[in-house]
Parts: sequence; C-alpha cells; structure tokens
Amino acid sequence: MSHLWHLRHDDQSLVLAATGGGLPRAIYWGPALSGDDSEEMMLAADRLDYTGGMMDGIPDLSICPEARRSFPGQPGMVLRAGDGTPLAPRLVHVSDARDGGVIRLTYGDADLGLTYVATFRLHATSGVIEASASLHSEVPIRVEWLAAPVLPAPQLSDEMIDFSGRWIGEFQPCHSTWGAGIRMRESRTGRSGHEHFPGLIVPVRGATNTQGQVYAFHYGWSGGHRMIAEELPDGRRQIQFGHAAGSELEAGTSFQTAPLLISFSQRGMNGCATAFQRHFRDTIIRFPDPARARPVHYNCWEAVYFDHDVSELQQIATLAADLGAERFVLDDGWFGRRDNDLRALGDWTVDPRKYPDGLDPLINHIHGLGMRFGIWFEPEMVNPDSDLYRAHPEWALGDADQLLGRQQMVLNMALPAVRDYLHDHIAAMLSQYQIDYIKWDHNRLLPMPDAAQTRGIYDLLDRLRADFPHVEIESCASGGGRIDAGILSRTHRVWLSDSNDAQERLRIQHDAALFLPACITGSHVGPRECHTSGRVLDIRFRAWVAAQRHMGFEMDPRELTPEEAGVLRDVTGWWKANRDWMMQADILRLDSADPAVIAEQQLAGDGARFVVFAGIATTSAQISQRPLHLTGLQADARYRVDLRNRDDAGPASRGEPALKSGPLELSGQFLMNHGLILPNSFPQRIWVIEGMRL
Ligand code: DGJ
Repeated sequence: MSHLWHLRHDDQSLVLAATGGGLPRAIYWGPALSGDDSEEMMLAADRLDYTGGMMDGIPDLSICPEARRSFPGQPGMVLRAGDGTPLAPRLVHVSDARDGGVIRLTYGDADLGLTYVATFRLHATSGVIEASASLHSEVPIRVEWLAAPVLPAPQLSDEMIDFSGRWIGEFQPCHSTWGAGIRMRESRTGRSGHEHFPGLIVPVRGATNTQGQVYAFHYGWSGGHRMIAEELPDGRRQIQFGHAAGSELEAGTSFQTAPLLISFSQRGMNGCATAFQRHFRDTIIRFPDPARARPVHYNCWEAVYFDHDVSELQQIATLAADLGAERFVLDDGWFGRRDNDLRALGDWTVDPRKYPDGLDPLINHIHGLGMRFGIWFEPEMVNPDSDLYRAHPEWALGDADQLLGRQQMVLNMALPAVRDYLHDHIAAMLSQYQIDYIKWDHNRLLPMPDAAQTRGIYDLLDRLRADFPHVEIESCASGGGRIDAGILSRTHRVWLSDSNDAQERLRIQHDAALFLPACITGSHVGPRECHTSGRVLDIRFRAWVAAQRHMGFEMDPRELTPEEAGVLRDVTGWWKANRDWMMQADILRLDSADPAVIAEQQLAGDGARFVVFAGIATTSAQISQRPLHLTGLQADARYRVDLRNRDDAGPASRGEPALKSGPLELSGQFLMNHGLILPNSFPQRIWVIEGMRL
C-alpha cells in the first residue's frame, strides 16, 4: 500500500510518499514537476541501495524519523511518560485529507495513545509552504523534542547558511560546510534572539544571490528554537526545526510546533528571499489599514533618552514634522519614576513629575502637526525597584537570586493574573489617549527557556489587538532580538537593530532582506555621531540607507545644520513619492563583484520600475568601479536608468562615467549582463539609481 501527496506551485514541487502504512517522507522537493511521473516509478526511483556493515535496508528519513525504526540519526520526537519512562512511538497511518493546497496527515500509536498530525499548507501567493506538527496524548506525557515536519537537504550542496548576531550586529550569516554529523543551532534565551535568527539557507553548489537552486527555512516561533542539520552515516541529510529542546516544562496532552516556512527557488537566494518577503508582507502581517501609506517615523530615544520635558519634546516634534515625519513615538521614560534603566518597569502609569498634565499637551501638539502618536512599553518585564514588584514579587519568573539583565526580571506570562494586569494597564493608556502605535520592547533574556511564556505573550498581544484593532505594534527586543513569523503575525514592524550607524545598518538590512520585506523593516536616520559606534557619517549616507526600508528619524533634529536638514527633507520627499510601490517591491540582493559594495535592487511588482541602492561600505581593493549587474529585468525590454544623487559625486570621481552626466537607455539584457558603471566614490556613500521600463 502506498500514498503519495504532491504540492505544486509555479516554481516548486514537494512530493511526499508513504509505503506500508508508515510515515511519509519527502521523495522529491525541487523544480515543479509536470505530473507525468507515475507514483510507482517515483517511489521505485527513490529507493536507496544498502551494503554490508549496516542494517538490511534503509530506515526512512520520514517527516518524523522514529528512533524505534532503527533510524540512524536524530529522531523527530523525544517523549517520556508522566513518570519519566522513555516512550518510543511507532506511528501508523490513521487518515489523510487534502483540501486544495492543504494536506493533513494523521498517524497514531494506539498502544501509547498518541496521535501525530502533520499539516502542509501551500500559500499560492508566495509559494511558501508552511509545515507544522501536533501531538496529542490520551494521558499526560512530557515532550523533550517535537520537530516540525522534517525535510531532506540537498546532496549537491556544499554549505549551509544560518545566522548569528548580537546587539547592534544582527543577521550575521554563518557559512558551514556539510560533513558527517550535526550542525545544531539553538536559542535557549527565551526569544528568537539576536544570536540565533531562526532561519537556514541551503544553496545548491554554484548558487548565488541571483542564480542557482536554493532551499530556505524559517521557524516562526518567538520563544527560542532548535535547528538540526544532520548528515547521516549513510550520507542522507535532514533538516529539523522545533521549539528549543526541553522548553515544554509541564507534562501535558497536547503539543504543537510552530509553522516551519520553507521555500525552494531556481532563481538563487533571491527566489527564496522574495518568497519570504511576500509571505511576510501579504500573509503574515495584517495591517489595520492596509491601504494607508507607511508613515515616516520619528522616535525620540536617541534624542532625549530618559530626560523627558514636554516643551522640549514639542520642539523636537515640530522640527521632525518639518523634516517630513508623520508619526512620533515617545520612547522609554514616560511612566513610573523611570529616570534611568534601573527602575519602574511594570508601573505603567504616566509620570506626573514629567507630565503634570498627563500626555495630552504632548499628544495634542503632535496631532496638531498632522502626526500620529505612538508610545513605548516593555510589558513582559519588571524592575525589582518598582511598585509592581514590591506588590507581586511572586509574578517574576525564575529564582529570586537570578542574574538580572538590564537590572530587570521577566514577568511570568503564563499566569493569567499577570496578563490581566498588563492588559488592563495598556488598555487604560490606549483608551485614555489617542495612541495608534506601540513600540513593544523586550530587553532581557529569560532565566530559562519556557514555551508557556511565549504562549502567554501571544495571548496578551491577541487580546490587545482584538480590543484595539487600529493600533499598530512594533516588535523590538534591544533592536532585532525578536524577529520571527510568530511575533510578526501579531505585530506590524520590527526594530531591526539598535544600530543607527548607516554603515552597519547597510549590511544588517541587506542580510535581513533574505527574509524581511521593506514595509516592516524599520530604519532610522541616526545622529551625526553614532551613539553605538562613534562613527561620524555624512547625512546623505544616513538618509539614503534609511530610505531603503521603512524610513524614520531618531536623532535630535536640533543638531542638524540647515544643509543637513535640506538633504534629509529631499530624501524623505523622495521616499514619500516612491513608498507606495517600494513598500510592495521585491528586494533583490545583487551579486556585487566588489566586496566593498553592498547592493540591492528593489523591483516593483509589475517589473515596470526599480531602484538600485549601491552602498560603498568600505574602500575597494581596486581603483575602478566594477560593473554592477542588475537582475530580474526583462531581457528584451528597454529601461531608462538615472543616477538620482549624481550631485553626491565627490573628488574621488574625476572622469566621466556616463551616469554622472545623464540617464542611459539600455536593454534588460545589457543591464543584467554588462552591468552599470558607477562613479568612483569615497567609502560610506551610497549611489541611488532609478530605473523605468520604456
Ligand atoms: C531598547 C530599544 O532597542 C531601544 O530602541 C529603546 O527603545 C530602549 N530599549 C529603551 O529602553
């Protein structure tokens, strides 16, 4: 007896097959199949040989490899009975159902009273497949590990790319070579984390940003994940993703993985990147008013920190509005006795010392300028020096003598009373004041991984969103410490990094674009002298780098010279004029021949226009600019390309590359295969090239 399920999209096919009543395995995942191959032939053609010194057969690399069936690698689940006895299920087919692009496979172990359900959902608009697993038990059991449906990794691949990072240095790609054994990544910090963005890219040999075959994975969970990329002794490779091991602290009868998002592309890493960008933008994020343009953001953190003074903030707001800001976000410092980061988290009422008449004078002023108003919270945290902690020390998670982080503890979000307290205090603010944006921060690691904590946060966010559907929420965790599909299905923007250093940001946002679209990626023009690096960067560079994503400002506008303000007004005006299509565009990372140049092309959905940002991150090794090859264009169409900021050409450019003096008209073929020659430039500058199909 065999079963076969085929999920097909324009670019990819995933074929699952099961024989003899056991769990299915992915027998094919790659370019779309026509459907001409017979079930029997595909199954037969996928059968591996075996030899001496091993078992008399090859145990299936199924969607949940079972220890019980002599599987020679990591199993897809590790369970114990309530009393601690190890359980080794043997799952057999119970039922399967298909509804369009959704396949639901139910398997069970009657002796152990277990039911395992795997669901595969193909999203037609993005081509992303969402795979998740659940486990139900008739009696309470303990789950140490439960993988989302397990997939094979390609054999013709030499490396895998996952991500590390740190505060002000998010999304650092880590390249590792495939070889015998396991590469494991695990976030045990209770958040998806700067250090462990839950993503993996597996390029087939020879793939680049713009060409070749690539597989990509993202686990949509905010509480910390485990990734296993394993090459088995027989050479097969498996990819597993699930919650961090052991993060289900209680015995229970029902467990669920987060969705594992997967994508295959024949158009290089950009194919997977744009599938994820579209999926985040069109399926995961739900803006309260999708038709509303993304507003230019102003955040006061790096202008005033904890030093709030109403008239000063009003003055700053006036200047920000004059530069083009459309939303003002009041950051940390407005509540309790929050004069520094030592105290008051949890005391979510307006500080009467700083705001004797409440927030109305500030909010009214901001609204009077035509801007919207947003406010900062860090709901999951409490300082030991707070009224909340003094009243409820038992609400804090972990031991009383635990190591603090930023002088704070984490509230136990699994407790309904904690969620009610937070809901009521946030709701009171949202009801009393006209607030339509929350910056939701999370600045410390958990004392230990705990999946119930994440479910508690999701529950609180869901309640608030149901009660205040017009409010947008930004996910921040010391910058980009909590970016994943789980949090983004409940929020609308990420604060990608606390680094407002345009040079660092250029790189961080380039690598984040492997997953994230522009419309949800916050990017702010920081102070002239960067507060996190000490670098002094030109306003042109700072402004254009912010204009690559959801643009904002985060400096004290009083520091700007008239010339700097003029540049910022100009770039902001350009961003506003282009945001409607740019916020819907695909971000295509370009294969830059010069490692000093970090370049991307944002291509409109209809392909009729694009903008290239070519950032000169450092000094090039060679003298002349290497041509920059564009991508994704129609080979036989003609395009007009123009250097938007040719006035920025400085003394490094003495010659006359054509773009310096005017637009060019060239075919897509030429632009993709010859490339553009840009003027020589000092480092820490960026060229902006606009393209229009003729
Ligand atoms: C960390 C965030 O990343 C910053 O942007 C700022 O909101 C501070 N927290 C405030 O404490």
